[in-house]
Amino acid sequence: MIRISGLKCEHMPEPLEADSSAVVVVDTAKPRFSWVPRDERRGSTQKAYRIIVSRDKESVLAGVGTVWDSGKVESGENNLVRLGGADLPECTRFFWAVKIWCAAIGEKKSGADAVDLAESPWTLSSFETAILDPDSWKSSWISMPEPEFDETTVLLVEGDINNNRHVAARLYHGIYLRSSFSLERLPVRACMYVCGLGYNECFVNGRRAGRNRLDPGQTDYRLRALYSVHNVTDSLRTGENALGVILGNGRYVDAYGFGKPRLMLQLLLEFDDGARRVVVSEGSWKTSHGPIVHNGIYSGEVYDARLEQPGWDLPGFDDSAWRPAEIVDGPKLEAQVLPPIRVVATMPARALSFPEPGVHIFDFGQNFSGVVRLRAEGPRGTRIRIRFSELLTGSGSLNLGTNRESQSSDLFILKGEGLETFEPRFTYHGFRYAELTGFPGIPTVDTLEGLVIHTDVERTGAFLCSNQLVNRIHSNILWGQLSNLMSAPTDCPQRGERMGWLGDAQLASEEACNNFDMAGFYAKYLEDIRLAQLTDGSLSDVVPPYWPLYPTDPAWGSAYVTLAWAMYAMYGDLEILERHYEGMRRYVDFLDANSPGHINDSLGRYGDWCPPGCIYPKKTPIELTSTWYLYNDTLVFSRIAAVLGKRGEAAVYAVRAAEIAAAFNAEFLLADGRYATVPMSKIDRTVGQTSQALPIYHDMVPAGQKERAFARLVEAVVKNADGHIDAGIVGARYLLEVLREGGRADLAWAIVTQTSYPGWGYMVAEGATTLWERWEKLGGMGMNSHNHIMFGSVDAWFYRSLGGIVPLEAGWRSLRIKPYAFDDLDHAGAKVDTIRGTVCASWKRSEKGFSIAVDLPVGVTAELEIPVHGENPVLSESEELLPIRSVESAGKNGGAPRWLLAGPVLRKDRLCLSVASGSYSFGLSVG
Ligand code: BGC
Repeated sequence: MIRISGLKCEHMPEPLEADSSAVVVVDTAKPRFSWVPRDERRGSTQKAYRIIVSRDKESVLAGVGTVWDSGKVESGENNLVRLGGADLPECTRFFWAVKIWCAAIGEKKSGADAVDLAESPWTLSSFETAILDPDSWKSSWISMPEPEFDETTVLLVEGDINNNRHVAARLYHGIYLRSSFSLERLPVRACMYVCGLGYNECFVNGRRAGRNRLDPGQTDYRLRALYSVHNVTDSLRTGENALGVILGNGRYVDAYGFGKPRLMLQLLLEFDDGARRVVVSEGSWKTSHGPIVHNGIYSGEVYDARLEQPGWDLPGFDDSAWRPAEIVDGPKLEAQVLPPIRVVATMPARALSFPEPGVHIFDFGQNFSGVVRLRAEGPRGTRIRIRFSELLTGSGSLNLGTNRESQSSDLFILKGEGLETFEPRFTYHGFRYAELTGFPGIPTVDTLEGLVIHTDVERTGAFLCSNQLVNRIHSNILWGQLSNLMSAPTDCPQRGERMGWLGDAQLASEEACNNFDMAGFYAKYLEDIRLAQLTDGSLSDVVPPYWPLYPTDPAWGSAYVTLAWAMYAMYGDLEILERHYEGMRRYVDFLDANSPGHINDSLGRYGDWCPPGCIYPKKTPIELTSTWYLYNDTLVFSRIAAVLGKRGEAAVYAVRAAEIAAAFNAEFLLADGRYATVPMSKIDRTVGQTSQALPIYHDMVPAGQKERAFARLVEAVVKNADGHIDAGIVGARYLLEVLREGGRADLAWAIVTQTSYPGWGYMVAEGATTLWERWEKLGGMGMNSHNHIMFGSVDAWFYRSLGGIVPLEAGWRSLRIKPYAFDDLDHAGAKVDTIRGTVCASWKRSEKGFSIAVDLPVGVTAELEIPVHGENPVLSESEELLPIRSVESAGKNGGAPRWLLAGPVLRKDRLCLSVASGSYSFGLSVG
């Protein structure tokens, strides 16, 4: 029986049933549909699909598409199929369903009749169009006239990373807005479109609209802001209804060129006779301050419960003391179509200690991004402070060093009316420890509860192996990645940065896409990058450019092509490539225009950032890294042009890439097979891991020199670094791949499993629960965050080398499954929920051989390369023997099972075979 799962509209999965307020919103009149075909039969491929779209669920359930019916389309495509027919109207809910036909090669060993055809049932989902016509906004941006504020210093970096200053930022007290309207009859549907800058939370008759936190997502508010859509039908009543909104500062602060918080809200009511009414934000709204007397991303929140105004968001509240709102201006609005930031989990404290009287330290056992919820009971006016840190001092109190310029502290003032609960709304912290002071009495471990907060991306990957150190590194990477997804990919969650540094994002992107569904997130971020581009084509190191750092270091700016390519390779999104084609071209041209003779020696600022011992690269010339990225981006761009069918341009950029490679070798390749290191002196004997690995990665080394270049790399690992990493974030991304492809996966494994300095294992040995910014264990005020994701690229190596899953082309149609079974590894497995379905490979070593289970989705084929450790291998699949062939007859299938596309043949120490889609369980025994 074939089934369909994973329905998505424009990359967005259907929200969970439990959250009735969430809707799938598309910001287009012609959305694209995706689904995952499921068929347990081997060798199955989708032969046709049919999509129907209707306004009502009943029609779709009856198999009728009143808005659109694609008819039966003969196609194997299951991803991003665009709606045909007329444009959809805005602000409308639609139901859609898809059914597919699949053909599978039968179990019979031969014969033309061996193909089985089958049809799936309809599978249904829904989506909603956003406000597509700007004129449909009938609301005004409103704010509070002259709200109170206090000044806090924030870090501002402009032009150059060394030009960092502490500047005063006006942080406005929480602004509360309310309005009411009356309803004679209940609508069948009520949708709230809301953007409250910097952050907002909305209430309808006292009930929270949606579960989003730190909403809306970060953008450059000069150019656009995102609005969220909440279904609030269930919160309305006949008679008077109240709307309440709280606004916080977020990043909408003057220090970044913005101003006081503001709101745009529109409530669309739809009645059963088709009539529509809108309730809007306008000058008649009332405003006031309330209990949030301070809120800042870095400085935390101060909540004075004595200032609460019970019922402020309910009908009938006396708001005569509230001031009328003022009409202000605001940016262009676009729908927020990436997954929102949410509280995704709660974390109980694992331990509670008392380093000093009245000072209570809660240990959550894990570094993460979020806040804590406090429960307390005490006299009115009691001031309870909570501070946060990643580390403790030797005496067990908070070590605030790594927070650097971030105050990371919340204050709660009790109203004294029994048990009170506090959780801040408009801030977050990066921490493992929380210090509670001013608490009335003695707290228990439950007094604080951690709330894990980040963009709620779906988990799509899994990895596990028999080496617990590697599992721990993987876990640290997952926590590090999630802590740094705050609607933009941030560098860290704790100190006064938390910015969208492009380099950190691009280096970790393969890891991120394996582990999480990053499609909506990266689609949004690519738009941020596009909007940040200057007319000369340059980009900023930080996007959104709250810190305008133009022009970007090439290793950072590479995010533009890298993330766009990931959207195509991982998520099959060709239109993203189209949308950003001109922008990427302007960027790649900007790089080359600033590289006389194709050597870039002017744009690099960071290069192979954070190698052992320092932040600036001490062995890798920055111009080598910059020029290599010039090559990389030009090459990737030429591939993008080719994929888009722009053959002429593909050729132009491919030729340019070849010229850059030649210039690179002329400039940096020394006579003895080494690439230049710092200082760039020809007599220096050093060989650098990064300098060496980068050109090998892209096969840039001239013929005849390849072996020597690789041998020098091995020397850089074995002789110069005693089997350790000796690279910064750029080298770490490519080194292990290069070692494996060059036949020294064992060396990569040695590097990964080191527990002595420097290395990922060293971090674990020193108690890390996330990844550090530096290879060193540092706890002071410098560059030493304990939750940076930029070294997390190693996780991609786990998937590729230990799980063995290697995509052979963009879009997941064909794969290689080639695990490396290192001597001290007994088993490993990885799975990725791809756009085609779940790809999974897991293997186990036994005394007599090796077993491997593989799942391949419909329409996906794989080349399996099973390691053979021993003589006379015998291969079986689900107990059935598969005779090993000679290499000559490898392509011919003969009487073999039809799912076996080629092989098995023995090539060196691997048994190689090609298989069609399906689930397999192979056993290999050796004599
Ligand atoms: C950030 C990094 C960033 C770097 C630029 C740091 O302050 O935390 O992650 O990429 O600056 O070199």
